[in-house]
Amino acid sequence: EKGGYKHFMLKEIYEQPRAVADTIAGRLQAEEGDIYLEDIGLSDEQLQQLDKIFIIACGTSWHAGLVGKFYIEKLARVPVEIDIASEFRYRDPIVGENSLTVLISQSGETADTLAGLREAKGKGGKTLCVCNVVDSSIARESDGVIYTHAGPEIGVASTKAFTTQLVALYQLALKLGRVRGLLTADQCREQVEALLTLPRKLEEALEIDGHVEEISREFMNARDFLYLGRGNQYPIALEGALKLKEISYIHAEGYPAGEMKHGPIALIDEQLPVVVLVPRNDTYEKVVSNLEEVKARGGKVIAVVSGDDSELIDKVDAIIRVPEINDDLMPLLTSIPMQLLAYHVAVFKGTDVDQPRNLAKSVTVE
Ligand code: M6R
Repeated sequence: EKGGYKHFMLKEIYEQPRAVADTIAGRLQAEEGDIYLEDIGLSDEQLQQLDKIFIIACGTSWHAGLVGKFYIEKLARVPVEIDIASEFRYRDPIVGENSLTVLISQSGETADTLAGLREAKGKGGKTLCVCNVVDSSIARESDGVIYTHAGPEIGVASTKAFTTQLVALYQLALKLGRVRGLLTADQCREQVEALLTLPRKLEEALEIDGHVEEISREFMNARDFLYLGRGNQYPIALEGALKLKEISYIHAEGYPAGEMKHGPIALIDEQLPVVVLVPRNDTYEKVVSNLEEVKARGGKVIAVVSGDDSELIDKVDAIIRVPEINDDLMPLLTSIPMQLLAYHVAVFKGTDVDQPRNLAKSVTVE
């Protein structure tokens, strides 16, 4: 049932091109330049009236939400607040009838996220979930649902659920952008065309597997790891660190690259591998200078770059390449090396990759 793979996690990593294609399927109206979300549970008029969006989730799903905030604010210009579910429900959030609370959950059974949903509903707000498991508690209790169609995820470390959540959130942002008049049909069509290239780009991104395995062998004995990114790559830094912690039991921290000089830079020495997410985008130069700060203090830099970028070859200790794609979708591609790095380090360390200690696939306690 692992389809020839050594672990479910690896199988699920490799399923991503297919999973993402399934999330995309049926929702794109390329000719009309629109997005079709069947069970969203909100009329166009209700979508137009929204004055605020809350995103609530835990763990990896929360990281997807952090990227979702970028998507929605950029494409639809609706203010988004994002909370970890166990924080949201106890802070008496200001939910009104024109607010939409988006719950993100692979399992649809996470107790804190479910409680967040009930909190938002109880206050009269509208609710929508991005969920993988059909008919799960969260899917049933939300007013609307966008299913991720990733297929069953068995490995405790979430992989294909995450990338498909990003696609679903992107679709939601496009839909909102269209309905609220921020995106023309032509602009939407352009985004839709980029989305359609994703499965093939993910296939290409997976070709780095062998190279990431070598890098993992080299750094597997490190005691700590730091992950840095800016903008929509910051959540991917958090996700990379979480993956590594969960399955290899190595302490890791994700940090906004620009915040490093406000504290964590003190940690840097020759023993510390620093994974820097530095695809070509508007903040490229800034991230490069953060990377140079790390090198100047003796840190070991593993850079994740895009396309044929060769500027950093002499500046870093290892380079991982992902294909080029538009900036909004780049987080999906940079997620691949994050997953593979954690996976190979864990395999080298001999941990139980699919069933890491102390963790359960769905967390139904609060
Ligand atoms: O099923 P959910 O998406 O609600 O689960 C949320 C978290 O428990 C989950 O993402 C967890 O962080 C994963 N083990 C991460 O790999």
